[in-house]
Amino acid sequence: MSKLIVANLKMNMDYKTTLEYVENVNENIVICPSYIYIPYFLNKYKVGAQDCFNQKKGSYTGGISPFHLKEMGVEYVIIGHSERRKFEDDIFINQKIKVALDSGLKVILCIGENVSEDKFEKLSNQINNDLKDVSLDNLILAYEPIWAIGTGVIPTNEKIEETTTFIKKIVKDKFNKEISVLYGGSVNTGNIELLNKIKNVDGYLIGTASLNYNEINKIYNISN
Ligand code: PGA
Repeated sequence: MSKLIVANLKMNMDYKTTLEYVENVNENIVICPSYIYIPYFLNKYKVGAQDCFNQKKGSYTGGISPFHLKEMGVEYVIIGHSERRKFEDDIFINQKIKVALDSGLKVILCIGENVSEDKFEKLSNQINNDLKDVSLDNLILAYEPIWAIGTGVIPTNEKIEETTTFIKKIVKDKFNKEISVLYGGSVNTGNIELLNKIKNVDGYLIGTASLNYNEINKIYNISN
């Protein structure tokens, strides 16, 4: 089965590098640029936003509406990235997921533990709290151990497979649904061949390596 490759460009690039990227990055990759650069990608790519607000409309200065994103042609939204969770709790994340799904977006919900935390407990809590009363039809999970993001350090294949299998099982037990699970955290051209040997991973969420279109294109080609 083909793997979903998602590029999380975070708050990087500039106008010139964005235009060059649009010309060169593989069209099958889901691109999540900074909000400002989303329009440059819309006609050619499946686009994701890196976050959204927990309301569709109203007096929320500076908020980004999931409804507006959908109306513009955005297809996905990342919610609960660990770089956002620093400022947000599970209640807020749960609200955002519901409003995003209600607006017609597909949600990529990031979950993951820090080094000092009990992995299975943390993941179970995040799944229970963030997905409370949520329909999973348009939802994908991304397992991103916080300690692996942007560090160049990744879990062993065995650990990743153990974790994504655990995630799929608790979702199945709780919701009676099969769910896709991506892996994210320091995926690059140097480790993608090894990572591809893992069963139970449906794609990758890629930060640093996605900033270079040659690198992300290569990751796509090796994975698919
Ligand atoms: P990274 O980022 O690939 O640079 O580790 C992944 C992410 O933050 O989603």
